[in-house]
Amino acid sequence: MTATERHTMSLQLEVVFRVAERDDLPKLEWYGQYLHFRRLFQRTFEEQIAGRRLMLLADVNGWPIGQLFVQLESYDNLFMDMRKRAYFYSLRVMEVFQHKGIGTALIREAESILNERRYDSVSIAAAKDNPGARRLYERLGFRVFAEDTGRWHYIDHEGRTRYVTEPCWILEKQLKLFS
Ligand SMILES: CC(C)(COP(=O)(O)OP(=O)(O)OC[C@H]1O[C@@H](n2cnc3c(N)ncnc32)[C@H](O)[C@@H]1OP(=O)(O)O)[C@@H](O)C(=O)NCCC(=O)NCCS
Repeated sequence: MTATERHTMSLQLEVVFRVAERDDLPKLEWYGQYLHFRRLFQRTFEEQIAGRRLMLLADVNGWPIGQLFVQLESYDNLFMDMRKRAYFYSLRVMEVFQHKGIGTALIREAESILNERRYDSVSIAAAKDNPGARRLYERLGFRVFAEDTGRWHYIDHEGRTRYVTEPCWILEKQLKLFS
């Protein structure tokens, strides 16, 4: 092959959708990109063990190339009707694997888990400066029903409190109705 020639090969990759195990936690840092979320990942994993959250992963060769976290039983003070609601958050797919349907598949997988558990509805936030995420959620049947200042904070890997402000749309989707 000369320096100006390009050869290609095609890869077929199997993507497995599964919940996180403890060994996955360091891998979720994506080689430092999400190091600052180390404690948050650990806490979320403890919540998963307690049955209050789920960490759903898209796994290729034992590596989490995508993730979607689910907060279960999010009974908000706004709602007093005892309907079962869940909340999706922290959806992300490694850049090199984006636009291949993995984000869509993660949402669909999580919805089918919620359907099995007889949840009534699920919501998700889309940052106002992220129209691509909003478009994806609307294509999947979510509809904007509120907006939020998106203020939250977390403790990073060095014990510092980090404050985030991300104004967002809140979208909701009704899940399957059961008789
Ligand atoms: C938002 C995010 C999770 C979407 O993940 P993704 O795997 O790229 O999602 P999908 O591939 O299912 O859909 C994205 C686009 O690819 C398109 N697509 C899906 N499969 C495709 C395929 N096989 N070939 C070409 N395009 C495809 C979809 O139609 C969609 O098009 P659109 O941008 O016009 O709406 C991803 O972009 C991401 O991680 N972004 C950074 C973090 C983030 O913004 N998270 C959301 C927080 S609100």
